[in-house]
This record gives sequence, structure tokens and C-alpha cells, in this order.
Amino acid sequence: MSETPLVRVRGLSVEYRSRSGAVPALREVDLLLEPGDLLGVVGESGSGKSTLSNALRRLLPRSCRVTSGSVEIGGVDVAGLDPSGLRALRRDVLGFIPQDPIGSLDPTLRIGRQLRLALRPLGRPGDREALAGLLRGVRIREPERVLRLYPHEISGGMAQRVAIALAMAREPRVLIADEPTAALDAQVREEVLDLMVRLIAGSGAALVWVSHDLRAVRRWCTRVMVMREGEVVEAGPTEDVFGRPAHPYTRRLLEALAMTPAGGERENA
Ligand SMILES: Nc1ncnc2c1ncn2[C@@H]1O[C@H](COP(=O)(O)OP(=O)(O)OP(=O)(O)O)[C@@H](O)[C@H]1O
Ligand SMILES: [Mg+2]
Repeated sequence: MSETPLVRVRGLSVEYRSRSGAVPALREVDLLLEPGDLLGVVGESGSGKSTLSNALRRLLPRSCRVTSGSVEIGGVDVAGLDPSGLRALRRDVLGFIPQDPIGSLDPTLRIGRQLRLALRPLGRPGDREALAGLLRGVRIREPERVLRLYPHEISGGMAQRVAIALAMAREPRVLIADEPTAALDAQVREEVLDLMVRLIAGSGAALVWVSHDLRAVRRWCTRVMVMREGEVVEAGPTEDVFGRPAHPYTRRLLEALAMTPAGGERENA
């Protein structure tokens, strides 16, 4: 394939340094993403999922060191970007949906003002009608009322919709979401995931979605990456990974959810 992939991670290894020594967090991770790919990144706690999603945004903490490999977004090696290139990457190419939507909003500003401030550097109109339209796009009813509210006055599900609206307003080519619904209850979670995936799929961007929820990943993702102790133990199209898991670890994960290929429950997606 001669086309430049949207995301190409090659042999990426990183470690955190601590008083007790170096803790490897990613080991020789490879990843290729094309526009339209919806990737679910799964694996037990501490397997390196967040480290990978932060590495894509070049947002690893100082205590973390890349020991080998590279991350290219749209053919550009992120390690070589200067501060303005990095800002442009995060503003124009990558979108991010945080785990804690309310915590990611400024508690001192009304929702409308936060949206306006976010749109300004993009040269997008920030009048009331445009802002209300943004909220309607994430299926918020009574958008005019919500624009006047402060973050503590809205629910977690509503805040996550606002976060999705903010991320999508930038028309990202890659949306990264690290456990975006961990703070939401089950029904709201479904609605928010459905919304996120529809908007991303409709835009042709790629999604990197870190999740503990294998059922949701099976339902919505086109590709899956299974991580364990910093390694990718299995990756491929969703139906292959869930239907014919090659690695014992993936089988155990699926069995834990009673989602084994033989006789496991199926989603009525
Ligand atoms: N800031 C840090 N300092 C030291 N070690 C860290 C730091 N952040 C993560 N680690 C270690 O790196 C490894 C990978 O952590 P990471 O947070 O990427 O896992 P995760 O898959 O996102 O886990 P979870 O599902 O709990 O969010 C773990 O061993 C973790 O303890
Ligand atoms: Mg994590």
C-alpha cells in the first residue's frame, strides 16, 4: 500500500522511570490506522492502553521515556515536531474525549462561553445560533438553556456530549477517547457511545477508543487491539479477534464475559 496511513506506530517501546527503577509500559507496539477505522483498545488495567493513547498525542509525562520506535500521524513523525507543530497537531488533526467530562470543563465558565472560546481559534462562528447548533448536533434538547448553564449544573452524560461537540467541532482526523464513558451510568453510556461512533463514522475520521467494555467494543468497533503488560497480544478486524481469538489471553478475556465464540452471548446491535 503506497498511501500514507493516518496513524502509523512502529515498534514503540516506552518506560516510566521511578525510584525503584524503570517500568516498561509499552513494548514494541505496532499500529496502523486508516480513515474510517474504529479501533477498540482493550486489556486489563495497567496493560498500557492510556500510555499508548497519550503517546499518539505526544503527551507522555516527563517521567516517561520512549526507548524505541516511532509515532507518525499523517506521515509526520510526532517526535520531530516543534511546539507550534505539536499545537497544530493537537488542534487540527487529533481530537480527544476525556474520561471525566465535567472535570475537563472550566467550572467558572458557562457552557456557551466555553464553546465560543474553543471555536474562536478555529475561525468558526461563535454566535448563539451556531453554538446551539453544535449542541443540537450531539442531541442536546433545549440547547439555548444549556448554553447558559455552568458545568456543575449539567449531568455527566450531558457534559460528555458537550465534550464530544467540542472535539468534533475541530473536525479531527483521529479522535482519541480514553474510557470516555467510565463516569456514566449504563443507559447514558450507550447513548453517548452511539453518538460518538456515529459522528466519527460519519466524518470519515479514525477512532482510537480505550475501553474496558468488550461488549461495547465488539458492537461498535471495526478493529480491536488487545494489550497485555505493554504488548499487543492480538489485533485485527473485530469479527476475527472476537470470533476466532488466537491468543489464550484474548480467550480468557472473552470467557470472563461469557462471550466465547462457542455459545457466547451475542449483541443485538
Ligand atoms: N505516571 C506513571 N508513573 C509510573 N508508572 C506509570 C505511570 N502511568 C502508568 N504507569 C505504569 O505503566 C503501565 C501502563 O499503565 P497505563 O496507565 O497505560 O495502563 P492502562 O491500560 O491505561 O490501565 P487502566 O485500564 O487502569 O487505565 C502500568 O504498569 C502503570 O503502572
Ligand atoms: Mg488507562
